[in-house]
Amino acid sequence: MKLTWLTDLHLDCVELSYIENFFESLNTDAILITGDIAKSNSFYKHLKRIQILTNAHVYFVLGNHDLYKGGFKRSETKAVCITNENLTYLTNSNVIKLNETTTLVGEDGWYDFDSGPGLYTPIKVQDFKRIEEFKRCHYLNIVNLSKQRSQVASRKLKDKLEIAIQQGYKNIYIATHFPPFPGAALSENGKIDTDWLPLSISVAMGKMLAIMADNNADVNFTVYAGHTHSQIEYKHFDNLKVLVGKAEYGKIFISGEINL
Ligand SMILES: [Fe+2]
Ligand SMILES: [Fe+2]
Repeated sequence: MKLTWLTDLHLDCVELSYIENFFESLNTDAILITGDIAKSNSFYKHLKRIQILTNAHVYFVLGNHDLYKGGFKRSETKAVCITNENLTYLTNSNVIKLNETTTLVGEDGWYDFDSGPGLYTPIKVQDFKRIEEFKRCHYLNIVNLSKQRSQVASRKLKDKLEIAIQQGYKNIYIATHFPPFPGAALSENGKIDTDWLPLSISVAMGKMLAIMADNNADVNFTVYAGHTHSQIEYKHFDNLKVLVGKAEYGKIFISGEINL
């Protein structure tokens, strides 16, 4: 079985003919998309199109851009509603068996202002204006809401990982949009920009993953993430690796091909 990993497609910025050509010629059994598919009013149409053009099973999580022109609630509801036997929203799914030893789990995740200069970062992102739940919020409420979302996602993912470990899986693939460690979050110049870290990574997720990997040395944890658009393979422990895929508006890249 071949699983193709894609991230940060931003398909609302890509010409339809490019999208159709790319997916028609993509030869794969399954596709994993780690968020920023398009926007809230279009990601579900794109996912259905990808599913039809490739005839592959599509697994996905949502990124921050998938909430634009909508919000957390509206996008999550849409993502749950489009789920069918060939389209899986990982945030709303439990442990997925890929083969006897390998499983796939996922959570959208969120950044949590707990790295770099924290809430004192000078960076203001479009998320603050374009996500329904943030729009009329004071900055400190956005910070608190972000922390809550990061913690909830991290707890949910921990539950899924515990189930996967109990079930005896030795390779756990984790799909999430936001990298869990500063070392995995490079800016487009290939360096870590500390001012961007509070809005890029989920520290809560990183702490949880480090504890899980430390307590389960016989299990390999591989995180697939996006958001920063800058490719990196970051090894936190021997059994905990984070891969972040490259992205550019208007283009589609294959971030990885996994043969199972
Ligand atoms: Fe993105
Ligand atoms: Fe993103």
